Amino acid sequence: MPPSLTALILLCSAFSGSTATLGSPNNVRLSSYNMNLVLRWDRPEGEASDLLYTAEYKNQISSYKTGCLNISALECDFTPLHLSVYGRYMGRVQAVRGAESSAWVESSPLTLDRDTVIGPPSVSLVSNGATVEVSIKDPMFQISDLRNVYGEPDYNVTHWKSSRNETARKSQITQQTRLVLDDLDAWSRYCVQVQLKTGIDSRTSLPSNVTCQSTAGAGSTGSWLLSAGHGAPWLAAVLVLVGVSLAVALVVVVVRKRKSISRFLFPKDTLPQCLKESLPALPVSTPHPVKELHPGEELCDQVLLVTGGGGVEEEETQPDAGDASAPLRS
Ligand SMILES: *[C@@H]1O[C@H](CO)[C@@H](O)[C@H](O)[C@H]1NC(C)=O
Ligand SMILES: *[C@@H]1O[C@H](CO)[C@@H](O)[C@H](O)[C@H]1NC(C)=O
Repeated sequence: MPPSLTALILLCSAFSGSTATLGSPNNVRLSSYNMNLVLRWDRPEGEASDLLYTAEYKNQISSYKTGCLNISALECDFTPLHLSVYGRYMGRVQAVRGAESSAWVESSPLTLDRDTVIGPPSVSLVSNGATVEVSIKDPMFQISDLRNVYGEPDYNVTHWKSSRNETARKSQITQQTRLVLDDLDAWSRYCVQVQLKTGIDSRTSLPSNVTCQSTAGAGSTGSWLLSAGHGAPWLAAVLVLVGVSLAVALVVVVVRKRKSISRFLFPKDTLPQCLKESLPALPVSTPHPVKELHPGEELCDQVLLVTGGGGVEEEETQPDAGDASAPLRS
């Protein structure tokens, strides 16, 4: 038998034993993000959309096990199955319609700890005066956690002033998940981006979202006012307390000094009009005693004047409508 004929017979028998009557899924790929493991594929060309798929996975030493059976989606998540962080996995998928099925199509292998894409750390900022505190959280892994797999990470914290003509960026590497940026200007807006670098293997994460925060004044008063402006309820309470204390203090002062205050506002002793007008001309400043007058009464009486020499003189004054401003005779 010629060798070419033998080959043809072998080929024919191989095809007759096969049930691969459907086109196979295309572009079969295994991927991992934060330690998950997902197989994805494209629909076989030329097939209607009523196909179902069965996906399987295996590690280096096991045989294939079912991950998803008769699903219509174009992906299968193997993560809930018992995976090892250090495992090297492969996946394969087959299209199915009724009794028909396609050939299996296998993915390239993937080693989880080496190939997984490490997602961005999450970053939050709190401003305190002219400083900004950065808090960093590691990305959450689907299996195990970042520090278990890769050890203590480093964080590359980059910050810059968020104004149009400001391009200067400052980066610093830290192992802390809390960091205070204190080389900042007051009343300015700053943006921060963080990238993580693993201790083992020196793998880098995706960069975090850019997060921005405004600083306040250098003193704490500035940030107080600022947070009052943003409606901090405790600050409102403090302000009310201060206001009430001031009011109480004012009332206490008024009550204790009420005599002097009322004396100041309503002086008791008033001089008769004629005396008031003539007093500036006298060498003596203290009339004594002065008889009280009823309001409107313009009567004047005898007045005793005490002179500087200690002598006492008697003066007789008369109401004088003609010349009220005339000085008294002595
Ligand atoms: C999956 O689909 C195939 C073909 O349609 C069918 O024979 C099989 O019973 C289905 N299995 C399950 C568990 O539904
Ligand atoms: C830190 O990140 C910044 C921006 O993301 C980058 O320019 C810089 O090279 C990084 N530095 C290190 C040491 O990785």
